[in-house]
Amino acid sequence: MRFLRLDRGVLKVYRRLLGYAVPFWRVFALAIFGMVIYALTQPAFAALVKPLLDKSFVQHNTHSIKLIPVLVVGLFVLRGVAGFFATYFISWVGRSVIKRLRGEAFGKLLHLPTRYYDATSSGMLVSKITYNIEQVAEATTNAITVLIRDGLTILGLVGLMFYLSWVLSVFILVVGPLIALLVRFVSDRFRRYSGRIQDSMGDVTRVSEEVIAGHRVVKLYGGSEQETAKFERVNEHNRYLNMKLVLVNAGSSPIIQLIAGIGMALVIYIATLPSVLPMISVGTFGSFLSAMLLLMAPLKHLTDINAPLQKGIAAGQSIFELLDEESETAGGSRALTQVRGQLEFRALRFAYSAAKGEVLKDISFTVAAGETVALVGRSGSGKSTLVSLVARFYDPGSGAILLDGHDVRDYPLHDLREQIALVSQEVLLFNDSIRNNIAYGSLARHTQAEVAAAADAAHVMEFVCQLPQGLDTLVGDRGVLLSGGQRQRIAIARALLKNAPLLILDEATSSLDSESERHIQAALEQLMHARTTLVIAHRLSTVERADRIMVLDQGRVVETGRHQDLLQRNGHYARLYHLQFRDAAVA
Ligand SMILES: Nc1ncnc2c1ncn2[C@@H]1O[C@H](COP(=O)(O)OP(=O)(O)O)[C@@H](O)[C@H]1O
Ligand SMILES: [Mg+2]
Repeated sequence: MRFLRLDRGVLKVYRRLLGYAVPFWRVFALAIFGMVIYALTQPAFAALVKPLLDKSFVQHNTHSIKLIPVLVVGLFVLRGVAGFFATYFISWVGRSVIKRLRGEAFGKLLHLPTRYYDATSSGMLVSKITYNIEQVAEATTNAITVLIRDGLTILGLVGLMFYLSWVLSVFILVVGPLIALLVRFVSDRFRRYSGRIQDSMGDVTRVSEEVIAGHRVVKLYGGSEQETAKFERVNEHNRYLNMKLVLVNAGSSPIIQLIAGIGMALVIYIATLPSVLPMISVGTFGSFLSAMLLLMAPLKHLTDINAPLQKGIAAGQSIFELLDEESETAGGSRALTQVRGQLEFRALRFAYSAAKGEVLKDISFTVAAGETVALVGRSGSGKSTLVSLVARFYDPGSGAILLDGHDVRDYPLHDLREQIALVSQEVLLFNDSIRNNIAYGSLARHTQAEVAAAADAAHVMEFVCQLPQGLDTLVGDRGVLLSGGQRQRIAIARALLKNAPLLILDEATSSLDSESERHIQAALEQLMHARTTLVIAHRLSTVERADRIMVLDQGRVVETGRHQDLLQRNGHYARLYHLQFRDAAVA
């Protein structure tokens, strides 16, 4: 093992990967049994050469002459059967390990904190789950096969050689360390390049994904040259790194062969020394030489397996990094039943990163149960950030948000989110039917009639009734087959169906024309009626009827009051309102 350069960190990765194979140990053991049998057939074959030569050709023993061909066929049959089962079973284990790893990685995706997604490109993540994990398969199957099967073959052959003649075997002491050094050097390079190649695959995925998602922008703004250049860069980098790997790989084979050739020459030289010659029979020399020739193939396998092995380890490392990412907290343990919906923001401060500075600065206000509070302010003033803290997509740097008098962090996260219906600025739909997008996740328990009622209230039915498949119409990738306004109506229907005590509308009607907005407004108002609502609206007309308006500016609440009072105060709100009014007039 040492000569494959398995240092501590690498061993740890490998051990962890093997840990994934533990549940399949029975099949694993069968595979290893097959490998051992396979490995034993090689030295057995070399050993047969000695009696073949000495007894048959030198001593003309007729019994041996008849027996040996049968033994040879028998050996090959045994070897074939053992090889088949070894390959089949180890692959079975490998694919099972991959499935488990993929499942865990995907499970991790569902529980990563929002911050992680902010900082990581989705291309990188997708590439990890597809490409990197596939490379782990190679490490867990091919590499183990070769390590065990060929490793044992080599041990058996070398053992036989020492048994046949230790004088001739001294060549191993010369050639062995040379090969070990070479393999060690090669392994180092392999692992280093492999890690980089995997990262560069992530780049390839990322750039492709961007173009796929943004193909309209690319077309309309003439971005294809720029994107081609960007892709050429990552594509070329990937090729360059792969070629470095090929160079090391292709270079190592002839060097190994040269070393082996030198070994062979040494053996012949020693065997023909006058003092050694009389000690060695024809059979011994033949057997020895056969063993030596048989040694070449497993040696080559061992060096060839380096690339996939090191790739697998690099890939394993990157996947374990993902798996070891800290998951979102499960939250506290305070039971959350019968929420009244009183919400308090207490001296809240928040920054996305220290470098970018605070986005929310000392925010304090209380929303009574059932009250509707409107948040207004210029874009970038921190409105969306503030409401995303309520659902704990992020946690505040200092201060707290209290629901019914207790910090939201005291409640189980899942239960807390059950209490919140959110319609956000960007609506994301899943590639599924309109019905399943409305009755998404835990909402799937609702009856068809309830779903239809929600769809009706959100004016989804208005366009659905014109579709031949109605609510069962598929919406396409991320909902591309629908208009922005239609998507938003589906999101509103989803929120209506959820019927949660806390309602958060973050520019929920921004993609609607004023006509549909007025219609939906009625449904939304009915929904707001009995529950605590935070509503962010860019059109101030939707805000006028709120119980209270908070004006945010650069992360601070700068004004608060009712529509008429704020207008009279002639401050921030009045300015926003008149700007808006002018916009509306222009439009
Ligand atoms: N995920 C994020 N990571 C880093 N900064 C962000 C993120 N989201 C928003 N910001 C920044 O926080 C500030 C407030 O944004 P936001 O709350 O979206 O404003 P609003 O909803 O009022 O338009 C902006 O300066 C924006 O650039
Ligand atoms: Mg916003």
